Amino acid sequence: MIPESLRQAAEAVLRRNDRGKFTAPSPRQYPHLWLWDAGFAALGWAALGDYERAYREIRAALRGQWRNGMLPHVVFYDWPSAYFPGADVWRSDLAPEAPTELPTSGITQPPVLAFVVEILTRYDPDRGRAAAFRREAFPALYAYHRWLHTARDPEGMGLSVLVHPWESGMDNSPLWDAALARVPVGDLPPYRRADARWVPEEQRPRSADYDRFLALILHLRSHRYGESGVRASPFRVYDVLFNALRHRSEEALLAMATALGEPTGEIEGWLAQGRAAFQAYLWDPERRFFLDWDAVAAARIPVIAAGGFVALYAGLATPEQAHEMVARDLTNPEAFAPDGGTRYLVPTVSKAEPGWEPRRYWRGPIWINLNALIAHGLRRYGFTELAEQIRADTFALVARSGFWEYYDPRTGEGLGIGDFTWSAALLLAWDLLEIPETR
Ligand code: GLC
Repeated sequence: MIPESLRQAAEAVLRRNDRGKFTAPSPRQYPHLWLWDAGFAALGWAALGDYERAYREIRAALRGQWRNGMLPHVVFYDWPSAYFPGADVWRSDLAPEAPTELPTSGITQPPVLAFVVEILTRYDPDRGRAAAFRREAFPALYAYHRWLHTARDPEGMGLSVLVHPWESGMDNSPLWDAALARVPVGDLPPYRRADARWVPEEQRPRSADYDRFLALILHLRSHRYGESGVRASPFRVYDVLFNALRHRSEEALLAMATALGEPTGEIEGWLAQGRAAFQAYLWDPERRFFLDWDAVAAARIPVIAAGGFVALYAGLATPEQAHEMVARDLTNPEAFAPDGGTRYLVPTVSKAEPGWEPRRYWRGPIWINLNALIAHGLRRYGFTELAEQIRADTFALVARSGFWEYYDPRTGEGLGIGDFTWSAALLLAWDLLEIPETR
């Protein structure tokens, strides 16, 4: 249950950020539609009882879909804006697969929409409307996942490859440090970041990272965002968080296909492949943790990040693996758990990592979306008390500081941009994320 004062404050954030067609993650810092933000925002609208608005959010994300099935990570509604890199940098018009009527980015983001739609249509009290929306959204979601398994699985790993750190949603995580260092910057055109206008620079990615973010966009753009650009990308990573959310979404896709009387064989195949690949490539038998795979280096990335725990949300860990990750890392004060220095769960990166920075974006602060996914993953494996502790910590952070983009795990101070949509939406929708099989 959410205290009434928090509920009202969260609702006010959603309403302030509502642009009608879509909900901006933050009208100043992120004035367009972002893919996984749209999924979280839709859950927030549903928690407020406004399923029509939730469906509109999903439709707005699906309208950006490319003909090859890709869902782009940004759809530039309300363009032009001061956002950088904008539609003029991405130039989706160069891509033969892109929609002609709406500019978009040329990369994707964590695939949450299928499980979000499954949740929306499970709880919508108007059963006819729910069934109609499921029918409407299913083909687009299916096409997206097929793209994830074809265009984004060039090596037949059973996992989807990321060709830009932004596809992970965790832009400047220490996970990418070594892989990004190998990306040639070349002759970048002069550019001006817009992100440090509202947020202190030390809470944002470094300029050296930004150069590489941009260089990767220009590489993909020079291939018109086609598959040759994926194969030739100097950055190719198989990420745990991304692929765990893909798997969770495919569980949901299977449930939807069954409800719709659609064939299920291909989806069952994807699930089996994903499960096997997690064990074969991502579980590190020495470190006893799920680690990302760097395809350029042909090695696992030895960085312990909170995304690893999201494998539990998708049911991808064996019970033994889940126990080991919880004992060695999540409840270990030298890694993620509170100690004299940090007070709240779950920092995005283990404190034992040399790259840990408690105030810089995805390098240490707490993010509410990860907390929600991790808590419900823990419930899936029976760690009810720990899940409750994460919920209580998250609510305490918000009660203390408000709906910030991220939080300093030592003090609970809000960081990044304020009035951030998914922080408000997921507080409202916390319980909706529960895996049905857990109940
Ligand atoms: C940043 C975050 C990303 C998010 C986007 C919009 O790029 O790293 O995860 O989707 O902002 O909020």
